[in-house]
Amino acid sequence: MFAAVFISPKVTPIYQTSVFTFEDLNALEAYFEQPGQSYMYSRNGNPNTDELAEDVNQLERGQGAVATSSGMSAILTALLVYCQAGDHVLSAEEVYGGSAALLSQELTRMGVQITFVPMAEMYSFEAQIQPNTKVMLVETISNPKMTVLDIAKVAQVCQAKDVKLVVDNTFASPVITRPLELGADMVIHSVTKYLSGHSDVTAGVVIAKEATDAQRAKQIVVAWGLTLSPFESWLAARGLKTLKLRMRQHSENALVLATYLQQHPKVGEVFYPGLPDHPQHEMAATQGNGQFGGMLSFRITDDVETVNRFLRGLTHMPFAPSLAGVVSSISYPKGTSHRALTPEQRENLGITIGLIRLSVGIEEPEELIADLEKALAAI
Ligand SMILES: Cc1ncc(COP(=O)(O)O)c(C=O)c1O
Repeated sequence: MFAAVFISPKVTPIYQTSVFTFEDLNALEAYFEQPGQSYMYSRNGNPNTDELAEDVNQLERGQGAVATSSGMSAILTALLVYCQAGDHVLSAEEVYGGSAALLSQELTRMGVQITFVPMAEMYSFEAQIQPNTKVMLVETISNPKMTVLDIAKVAQVCQAKDVKLVVDNTFASPVITRPLELGADMVIHSVTKYLSGHSDVTAGVVIAKEATDAQRAKQIVVAWGLTLSPFESWLAARGLKTLKLRMRQHSENALVLATYLQQHPKVGEVFYPGLPDHPQHEMAATQGNGQFGGMLSFRITDDVETVNRFLRGLTHMPFAPSLAGVVSSISYPKGTSHRALTPEQRENLGITIGLIRLSVGIEEPEELIADLEKALAAI
């Protein structure tokens, strides 16, 4: 009885080991001859890490995936699959500040050229494509103004010019958008966010449309040591089981809060794709199967003391520079996610002192409105 329970656990145990043992030389040879059948060393592969990658692969309808140590290492892996020194990369101008810095400060040192494409040119960037352009990096829903990209339209331009399309699907999650089905070649996630969902994991994942690209991504992760740990993989796989339910609640709550904020006299613009006056509302509704996610941002007065009073006035929502947890949180793009940008770049993107980003959790919406009401009354 005891043995049966032990042999067939309902949940995959945590293989918290850096190395696996072999019975003899035959077992060692079998490991190399039959890839994927057994394990040797956790940097090269571990059951928990593989389980997470395969679960996300299924959700994104890919042909293979690899888990990575962070969202940043997932982006690095995706770019390294497709480019090397001498190549040229395009990126949407509105991407996560860390991604922009990776491109402009790190990959350029390795001989990769970068061009940022303004959002107004996202469907007509043919003129920016050079003979050595290999990749276009975009985000499904961009931060902090929640611009939603028509992935199929961008993919058309890329395919016509043989440029690989890499989509950071972190803000949408595969519940809302599956970029591989819309023509993307590779999808990456900061698993740190919605996929794990509880603000207790740092992780990433790369999912490919072609099995050969997935294999190459795996080689890169092993060679560069970008592997995720077994425990983080286990936590993320656990979080993933409630992704669909969480996304529904995040989306419903965010619409309620965006609607509330929009009518508040102390609030300026509200950026949420679920609002009917959002510039991409209709396309986002179609692409996102009627859900718009849990991220929104809004403007209060462009004054540091006003922002401080607002932050101090909140009781329930912590000021925490991340997103996508079950508990709502507030972030400040100018001082956190977009801190590395120049003042001019921030101005171009409309990232001002009074721009507040809200990651809407899965609490009762009335509680959240009461908290916002109190903080807005304080300014
Ligand atoms: C859209 C997006 N992509 C990638 C990343 C990087 O992910 P990580 O912090 O897990 O490395 C972030 C981090 O906030 C992000 O918001």
